[in-house]
Amino acid sequence: MQSRLSHFSAGTKGLWAIREVRSIKGETLPFAEKIHVGETEVLDANGWTLSGIRSNTRYTTSEEKAQLEMRQEDLGRSESGRAVMILIKKNAEWWLLSQDERRAIFEEKSKHTSIGLRFLPAIARRLFHCRDLGIPQPFDFITWFEFKAEDEAMFDDLLSQLRSSVEWEFIEREVDVRLEKA
Ligand code: HEM
Repeated sequence: MQSRLSHFSAGTKGLWAIREVRSIKGETLPFAEKIHVGETEVLDANGWTLSGIRSNTRYTTSEEKAQLEMRQEDLGRSESGRAVMILIKKNAEWWLLSQDERRAIFEEKSKHTSIGLRFLPAIARRLFHCRDLGIPQPFDFITWFEFKAEDEAMFDDLLSQLRSSVEWEFIEREVDVRLEKA
């Protein structure tokens, strides 16, 4: 059975070379040469590892799910020369809200899914949850995106739309890691 747990180990090994580590909000992460993504952690004395699990959806209606399934493509496409890993921690206020209040901010106010859908299938994505791992983690989410090098400006357009939304007011730490196939 495939594990739902993935480790993102920064160091000298891995399929993805780090081009840049940018702090969008809060403390950044140290630069490293490469990132290894897999079910086992690759230890590196000068590196770091973040871990997350794939999980069930929280805010997706059946109609949105159908649209996502119709348009999205999986990670690992040979033509995807670029990847971006975005690490996100939301604030205590967000986590104190009820499920319906969070959904209203996520979609009715911020249009996260409807904005995102416009960028499929060019952008392939996967979301990993860190809060449910049982031991405190520096981030709540690890998000991973893959696309062709020429689509990076389009990806930045998606980011500027999401980062100006109400949902992003609840983000207290965000680090943006730009990658290319090593
Ligand atoms: C490529 C287009 C995108 C699409 C189609 C998309 C779609 C979605 C959907 C459907 C969910 C909800 C999953 C659920 O029901 O639990 C979600 C969650 C999330 N997305 Fe996106 N997204 C996109 C881009 C992005 C980008 C660029 C970022 C980061 C800058 C991002 C960060 C997140 C985070 C952190 C969550 C979890 C939110 C939470 O549970 O509080 N997404 N996304």
